[in-house]
Amino acid sequence: MKTKLQQWAKPLLASALLALLPLASHAADPVKIGFLVKQAEEPWFQDEWKYAEQAAKDKGFTLVKIGIPNGEKMMAAIDNLAAQKAQGFVICAPDVKLGAAVARAAKRHDLKVISVDDQLVDGAGKPIAGIPHMGISGYEIGKQVGLGLLEEIKKRGWNLNEVGALRVAFDQLPTGRERTMGAIDALKAAGLPAANVIDAPQAKTDTENAFNAANIAFTKNPKFKHWVAMGMNDEAVLGAVRAGEGRGIRKDELIAIGIGGSQTALNEFTKPAPTAFFGTVLISPKRHGYETAANMYSWITTNQAPPAVTLTSGTLMTRQNQTELRKQMGL
Ligand code: GLA
Repeated sequence: MKTKLQQWAKPLLASALLALLPLASHAADPVKIGFLVKQAEEPWFQDEWKYAEQAAKDKGFTLVKIGIPNGEKMMAAIDNLAAQKAQGFVICAPDVKLGAAVARAAKRHDLKVISVDDQLVDGAGKPIAGIPHMGISGYEIGKQVGLGLLEEIKKRGWNLNEVGALRVAFDQLPTGRERTMGAIDALKAAGLPAANVIDAPQAKTDTENAFNAANIAFTKNPKFKHWVAMGMNDEAVLGAVRAGEGRGIRKDELIAIGIGGSQTALNEFTKPAPTAFFGTVLISPKRHGYETAANMYSWITTNQAPPAVTLTSGTLMTRQNQTELRKQMGL
C-alpha cells in the first residue's frame, strides 16, 4: 500500500531526473578529435595518422582525419569538425602564417587546438600563445645531418674545398630553415667554405619540386668535384638524389642525408644497389601522432592542457642500422 508521501514524491523525482538529463548527456558526449595535415599523401603524415588512430583505439575516442592542402580546405575542415560536434583538433597547417585564422576559427567553435610539426605563428611571425605545440628540434636535428655528412666525407677522404653543399631550401617555413641551417652550420664549423653552400629553393615541399630546384643548382655549379645534399625532409633530399642521377652525379660523388625515416627513406634503403641517399635522421611519427592525439583527449576529458612546446629528437639512420633502430623506437 502506497503512503501519501510516496504518491507525490514519485513525479517530483521523475521531473528532477529529467532536469538533470541534458547535463548528464553532455558529460557523456563521445569524444571526437580532428587530425588535420597539410600533405596527406606524404608517408610521414600517413604514419602520424596511423599512430593517432592507435591512441583513439586505446583511449576510446573517434578520430577524424582530414587532408588540408590549402587555407580554404583548412577552414572548411574546421567548420566541418564543429558541425560534427568534435571538441578539438591537432593540426599541421598548409602555411604557418594561417595561425591567427586557425585560432579565431577554433575560438568561434569552442574547439581546442594543438599544432604538430609546424608551429603556427601570428602576423608578426611569433608563435601563437594558447596553442600547444609538438615539433622536432629542427636546428639540432639539422646539425646531426651535418655531422653525419662530415663523417662520411672524412671516410672518403674528400677535401672540403672541393665539396658543394646543396641546400634544398624552403625558408618560409621556420622549422625547414632551422633544419637546413643546422646542417650547414655543422659543415662550416668543420671548414666548408661559405661560398660552397648552394641554395636550391623549392616552390613546394615535395620531391618533384625539390628535383626541379636541385637540377637547376647542379647545372649552374659544375665546378664541384663532390657534393653533399640536405633538405627539410626525406622528400626534399630524394629530389636532389634523383636530380644528381640525371646528371651523372651518383653515390660516389654525392652523399645525401634526409630527415624523417618513413617510407620515402625505407624505399631507398631497400633497393638492392645503394643510391646517394646515404641516410636520414629518424624522427618519431609515433610520438607526434600518438602523443598529440592522446594529449588532446586528456585536455578535453580532464581539462589538463599539454605543455606549451615539446621538441622531439632524432637519430641518424642508414642502410646498416635501419631495422634495429626502427625497432628500438617502437616503429
Ligand atoms: C614538416 C615537414 C614534414 C615532416 C615534419 C616533421 O611538417 O613538412 O615532412 O618533416 O615537419 O615534424
